[in-house]
Amino acid sequence: MGSPSEVEHSTDSHREGARRRLPLAAFDFLDGGAGDEVTLRANTNAYSRWSFLPRVCIDVEHVDTRVTLSHASLDVPFFVAPSGTHRLFHPDAEWATASAARDVGAAYVTSTAASVSMEDVATVAPDERWFQLYCFRDRAVVDDLVDRAALAGYRALVVTVDAPVLGTRKRDLRNGFSVGPDIKWANLEPYGAADLSSRSDGSVVAQYFAEQIDPSVAWVDLARLIERTHLPVYVKGVLHSADAQRACDIGASGVYVSNHGGRQLDRVPATLDALGPIVDSVGASIDVIVDGGVRSGADVCVALALGARAVGLGRSPLYALADAGRRGVETHLEALRSELVHTLQLLGVPRARDLDRQALAAHAGVSPYAFHTPAIPSPVSEESRRSP
Ligand code: FNR
Repeated sequence: MGSPSEVEHSTDSHREGARRRLPLAAFDFLDGGAGDEVTLRANTNAYSRWSFLPRVCIDVEHVDTRVTLSHASLDVPFFVAPSGTHRLFHPDAEWATASAARDVGAAYVTSTAASVSMEDVATVAPDERWFQLYCFRDRAVVDDLVDRAALAGYRALVVTVDAPVLGTRKRDLRNGFSVGPDIKWANLEPYGAADLSSRSDGSVVAQYFAEQIDPSVAWVDLARLIERTHLPVYVKGVLHSADAQRACDIGASGVYVSNHGGRQLDRVPATLDALGPIVDSVGASIDVIVDGGVRSGADVCVALALGARAVGLGRSPLYALADAGRRGVETHLEALRSELVHTLQLLGVPRARDLDRQALAAHAGVSPYAFHTPAIPSPVSEESRRSP
């Protein structure tokens, strides 16, 4: 288990290790974002803007890291977010990330674009595993993927809606990024993706997206999907409160606040900044989860304090995978857990599920209650107000 001091450097040092070990094009695909990477930077910076406001003399000898979602109880409040083709980063690929998540008690989301099939991932993944779905033009493919996920014991669907077209990733264009012949989109092989890696025109990812992903997907399609499946559906890629409300109206189980790690539209808000208003508009009736820029256990605490029910990790386990394989992912996730516990103890909050905005101080004039519509609880009692 990582000590808190190891944790501080964990994501950064794995990122450096990944940079050393991976070919430049693979590292840039993992590390980079869209456009000028304004949102990519904003996602991480948003976390350091918040300060904690701890309470003292509270018994924190035992800390409970469990949190609950409408359909699940999680041992730790973070999960491995969906990301494609882990084999690009290490030969152990999704086998490593999924089994490490299981051993640390974290939920795991398998991507449509995984390099190991969802059925194989399921054999090593935690019980709390979810399947991420892109909406394909061919609805029969979507239906089949959903049926396969249910059969393979996935407990929720995460439908990604912020990628109707692929973002402009300048690093990938500059590097002529393409996947090598040893990489396959295993989930998609039954639908004609098997020959993708034999094409080496440098734009194979963009081309495949343009061909397969349906940019015309609308709420009515999501509503149809929700009606068709018994699995809870999370809508991933929501930044606007009105869209969160819409997801709620069509019967989604959760809103997943995300900007795809700054890889789609650049100059959108940091997800942490989008989180508060969305929690305030729909958080009472639907699960709100978030990802983007989370690099430490302290970051997890900030997101929970602002109202997220659980927090997704995109790049950080992938840096660990590239740097040190399965063992790297496991120690990294364990280190996050350990830093989360340590932060909760120092905050005076023995149960992760009790974290709320009282754990945060105002920063640069922004109160953690700024987007809170009900009146701010006043620290001044009515009585003292009346006295002269
Ligand atoms: C992603 N992400 C992503 N999202 C998704 O819904 N389906 C996918 O296949 C992928 N693939 C993918 C690949 C890589 C290499 C990265 C880095 C990201 C986005 C991911 O789920 C998540 O939203 C962000 O990565 C979160 O931001 P951080 O934690 O990376 O800052």
